[in-house]
This record gives sequence, C-alpha cells and structure tokens, in this order.
Amino acid sequence: MIDKFGRQITYLRISVTDKCNLRCRYCMPADGVCKKQHDEMLSEDEIIQAARIASELGINKIRITGGEPLVKKNIVSICKRIARLDGINDIAITTNAVLLPDKAAMLRDAGVRRVNISLDTLDEKKYADITRLGRLEDALRGIDAALDAGFEKIKINTVLIGGFNDDEIERLAALTLDKDIDLRFIELMPMLTDEFDAKAFVKNDIVLDKLPELSFEGMEGVSRMYRLPHAKGRIGLISPVSCAFCAECNRIRLTADGKLKPCLHSKEEISIKGLSYDEMKSRFIKAIFDKPENHKELSAESISDADRNMNQIGG
Ligand code: 5AD
Ligand code: SF4
Repeated sequence: MIDKFGRQITYLRISVTDKCNLRCRYCMPADGVCKKQHDEMLSEDEIIQAARIASELGINKIRITGGEPLVKKNIVSICKRIARLDGINDIAITTNAVLLPDKAAMLRDAGVRRVNISLDTLDEKKYADITRLGRLEDALRGIDAALDAGFEKIKINTVLIGGFNDDEIERLAALTLDKDIDLRFIELMPMLTDEFDAKAFVKNDIVLDKLPELSFEGMEGVSRMYRLPHAKGRIGLISPVSCAFCAECNRIRLTADGKLKPCLHSKEEISIKGLSYDEMKSRFIKAIFDKPENHKELSAESISDADRNMNQIGG
C-alpha cells in the first residue's frame, strides 16, 4: 500500500514482547519494564491476524523484535505461522543472541531467514556495563550458534556511543574480515533515558575517519554499505540522527501491546488489540495512509517524541 506521501510501505516490524533478559542502557530503564497485564498484550492469534492483514496490504517483509523476542515462549510458533503466510517472503528477527544456542536451529527450521544481533563491544567489562546484566561470552556463543544454524544473512548491530565504544571501531569492524557477517554501526538515538550526555552522540562519519581503507559499495535500505579490503562481510552505517531517512521510510511498527506506530519517533499510536479482522484491517489502512511525513530533528537536547523506551517499540 502507498501512503499519502507516495511511499510504498512493504515492511512491518512486530515487537512480540517488551521484556528482555538484558537491560541495555540506551534501551531500557535499570529496573526493567513496568509490568503490563497479560491480557493487555496481543495474543499469538492476534499477532498472526495482524501479519496476515499486513501481507494483504502489500507488506512482504516482517521483522520480529522485542524487548528480546527469544524470551517469548511461543516465539518459534509465531515465526512458523508468519513464515507460512502468502506474500511474506522475508522473515527476520532481531535478538541479543543470548538465547540463540538453544533456539537458532528451531528458528531456522521455522522459516526465519535472517538474524540481526545486537553487540556493542568486544570487551567483557564494557559488555556487562552497557547491558547491565549480560555476559559477553553468551552473546559470542549466540553468534556462533547463528552461524551454525545456516541463516541466509547475519548482521551485527552496534550502537555507536561516544566515550564508550568509539575506541573499538577497528576491532569491531575486524569481525567482518573472515566471517560472512555484516556489521552495522547505528547512531545512538536520544530516547526516554538520561543515561547519556551530549558527547555520547557521535556521528557515524567517525567510522570513515577511523577506517579510511573502507570502500563504498552502495546503499542497502537505510544503510550505507562499505567493505574492508578482502573482507568477507561488510560494514554498514545507519545514521538516523545525522541523516534522517523519512522520505525513504518503508516501514510501520506494531508494539507488543497492540499499537500500530506509523513512525518510530511519534507519539501517534493506533490500537488494534481485541479487534475483528475487518476492524483491524481498516485501522491498518488508516495507519499506513496517515504515516507522518517525517519526524523532528533528533539530538541530545531534543529527544524522540516517542514517549516509550526502545524496548517498548522494537528498535
Ligand atoms: N539508539 C539506537 N539504536 C537503538 N536500539 C535500541 N535502542 C537504541 C537507541 N537508543 C537498537 C539497537 C539494538 C536494537 C534492539 O535496537 O541496535 O540492536
Ligand atoms: Fe534487550 Fe536489545 Fe534492549 Fe538490550 S537493546 S535491553 S538486548 S531489547
């Protein structure tokens, strides 16, 4: 379906839970989520109905996000049922990888084609610090499990944080040398958190300063893609802050409590919880058609209007 600004909307991100087994500082408050009642959350059948409606409206790619989607008990069943829908030809998942050693093979069998893994540092102490309760070795084991399971594509997402991991750019980038993994640096987006001061918000361009040997290979969605000499995988730069991509935005989001979010950085939410097929479909059509043209400029002083933390949106 085309929105009123002429953008073709083909990509739906479904957050299946706002819970997580980690507490990344840029994503979640230290004490975790304020617990929502179970009946406030979408049921598995509602998630599938939403995905079916989306596919009928021209969505062909679905990404499952969280919180951490793998903490959801019925995650494999959800993925399997979405993968079977007509019109959905790409199903992917974003995870912190901690539970992948148990789940990677089942997810691959369920039809998940690609995984994105969050990893911001290769230093054990820094990993424990940024995730507040994670262990680096669990994430690294999860990455190996993803490689073993034979996904079509594995990407690592690294949120670039000044004073935290900007001294690790070369080391992180080196992960692409001998593995067919893309590593993407994502600019830190100022959400509902007071964890960071202004110097944490650095532009992605510093990656190009640190790695002048990168060669540009083109755009892939919202990511500028580069490669180190002779590397198997690529380096991507995603710059939501320094270079907003609203004009090319092709996505909408569905939160775990059943709100369609036409824009990540807008307060606007359209509830689809508890609706019949027909009612849900008309809300979807409205949400897509009325997708905002753009969002305000983001900066350390001008935080997102989203009114939710990232774990409650799904990244
Ligand atoms: N800024 C940028 N990216 C974020 N993510 C979560 N919070 C933020 C933020 N404030 C992204 C991370 C993570 C995914 C779940 O969401 O890339 O990998
Ligand atoms: Fe969990 Fe991912 Fe948020 Fe970290 S960024 S707290 S792993 S959902």
